[in-house]
Amino acid sequence: MKPYRLRDHARMFGDHRRNGAYAAALDRVVPPRGVVLDIGTGTGLLAMLACKAGAARVYAVESGAIISLARALAAHNGVEDRITFFEQSSLTLTLPEQVDVIVSDIRGVLPFAGTALVSQIDARQRFLRSGGTMVPGIDVIQGAVVSAPRIYGDLIEVWGRSDCGIDGAPVRAAAAQQVIAAGIGDLRVLSDVVEWTAIDYRALTSPSASGSLKWRMPAGSAHGFALWFDARLADEIVYDTGPGSGDDLYGVAFFPWPEPVVTASACTIEVDLRADLVGDSYVWTWRTRVAADGFRRSFDQSTFGGSPLSPVSLRAHVRQATIDGT
Ligand SMILES: C[S@@+](CC[C@H](N)C(=O)[O-])C[C@H]1O[C@@H](n2cnc3c(N)ncnc32)[C@H](O)[C@@H]1O
Repeated sequence: MKPYRLRDHARMFGDHRRNGAYAAALDRVVPPRGVVLDIGTGTGLLAMLACKAGAARVYAVESGAIISLARALAAHNGVEDRITFFEQSSLTLTLPEQVDVIVSDIRGVLPFAGTALVSQIDARQRFLRSGGTMVPGIDVIQGAVVSAPRIYGDLIEVWGRSDCGIDGAPVRAAAAQQVIAAGIGDLRVLSDVVEWTAIDYRALTSPSASGSLKWRMPAGSAHGFALWFDARLADEIVYDTGPGSGDDLYGVAFFPWPEPVVTASACTIEVDLRADLVGDSYVWTWRTRVAADGFRRSFDQSTFGGSPLSPVSLRAHVRQATIDGT
């Protein structure tokens, strides 16, 4: 997983819509004199909001060096005596007591980000008291077919052009096996929005997911589909991150097709999609079927085919996996 830089934390610290929703959720669920665990505290923002919501003690765990700034911010905001910081992964954390609330925002573009879901499952099973609350409670993953000519050109079509007499065509097939983070402004939604899956942090037992999406398409030219999440933080306190939300903090995950699909009206597109955690990263697999009157085509894609592998790099992966015991 890409480490967060100070400027990434700045974007999160400055996102009033996200922070306001978390503040409202913590106000709702932190019991008087309650105990809270903040996984991936970063700048300590959610831990400090938990103090404002009335927590007596907050355990704030962060694996990155940003934790030194979190300590300074807690002192500056007068809550350092209520927050205990741990500089390590939550996966190796031990706590002296169970907590009433576990709060976190350790997602990337999607909640399927490195060991984020493994960390959520582990923390809930080891630290949450019976009847305690997870914030977020549920992330709903939504998807739509999109037109994205600029990023499609940069990501895939660039390999079909020859530059200075050098033809990149053999790379094009691998280039279409990538999932990339895109800004909301990079794409236009062509279809209705449908739910792929819902991650219920209160009951989640597996970090992997699979499911289908189906769209009835109007006429248009599509480059792939995009996924994003809508967060249900607590009860009716929600915030959405997709196109139309006005929020570009997280962006969307763009899944390209090997070639643009020109749809006629009465065309349907169905995708079977899987996210499988392998080691500490996800392999995405998507099988697409396009069907219209007298017309059918399908694509099978996987991010496994989008990572360049040579015999030397494969041997290094196997050596590392043996050391990690994965
Ligand atoms: C997206 S930032 C969020 C920071 C802060 N909670 C906020 O809401 O502004 C996620 C942070 O979580 C940390 N992190 C992710 N998973 C973690 C884990 N299992 N244990 C400790 N830190 C983790 C990352 O290093 C990163 O600093």
